[in-house]
Amino acid sequence: MTESQIARLDRAHRSIAGRVGAPCEAALVLGSGLGHLAAAVKDPTIIPYSEIEGFPVSTAPGHKGQFVIGDLFGRRTVVMQGRLHLYEGWQPRDIALAVYMLKRLGAGTFVVTNAAGGLNGDYAAGDVMLIEDHLNFTGRSPLIGPNDEAIGLRFPDQSRLYDPDLRALAIASAARTGTPLRYGIYCGLNGPELESSAERRFFRMAGGDAVGMSTVMEVIAANHAGLRVLGLSAIANAATGGPDQQPDTIESVAEMAAVCGTKIEAILRDIFPKLPASGEKA
Ligand code: HPA
Repeated sequence: MTESQIARLDRAHRSIAGRVGAPCEAALVLGSGLGHLAAAVKDPTIIPYSEIEGFPVSTAPGHKGQFVIGDLFGRRTVVMQGRLHLYEGWQPRDIALAVYMLKRLGAGTFVVTNAAGGLNGDYAAGDVMLIEDHLNFTGRSPLIGPNDEAIGLRFPDQSRLYDPDLRALAIASAARTGTPLRYGIYCGLNGPELESSAERRFFRMAGGDAVGMSTVMEVIAANHAGLRVLGLSAIANAATGGPDQQPDTIESVAEMAAVCGTKIEAILRDIFPKLPASGEKA
């Protein structure tokens, strides 16, 4: 019999409980090209995933694979510097375990960032998109298998995956800081191959504005566990699949994601002090 998520979580948490310090208020996961944001954490406690018992270790390029815990823009925060992707071979439940750990460390708000391709022809590389909702095109779910009632419901509602109050905060912050912001739907895929041009046109027709290889497993798990989610996509390349579609390289994606990182940092710096103290959903 495979170990339950709660038993795995207990074991993982026990192995680092002595090192994590005071409870966190917020959690932040840094996408490709955005890892440098972890440097904004003051007096960080760093815990590599490899030192957490039974924890998956991220292998993706540009993903360090560690928790960075400390004060971020006025909130005690656990930053995931390096995330876990399905394309690395991790199971959806491994990705969920990391999210449940963020909740166990005290976080009520979960901020997800990612690098994504712009399906929407109005978007340009360097834009930042507030995620309003997502399309899970992976064909997977982190909730398949026995449900741990101590974590969440068997059949969680998903009508407000990306918290409306946090979205309103982000929109206000973008206006206050003069940061242009797009709003749209994120399509999550397995990867690692980029989409064909026909697929990109299909995802656009399906309602997607941006496409990437992360986020949806995390957000499904976060919603299951009652975390309030804010999602921001760094539009790193045009992905319209149109006649002028250019080939993508990981180098140019990382470079443009870093450009977006400056804008994302400006928004988060403004939002963090305004985050609700208790993140439990009403
Ligand atoms: N497709 C999928 N994932 C991505 C892309 C893309 O075009 N850009 C950055 N991550």
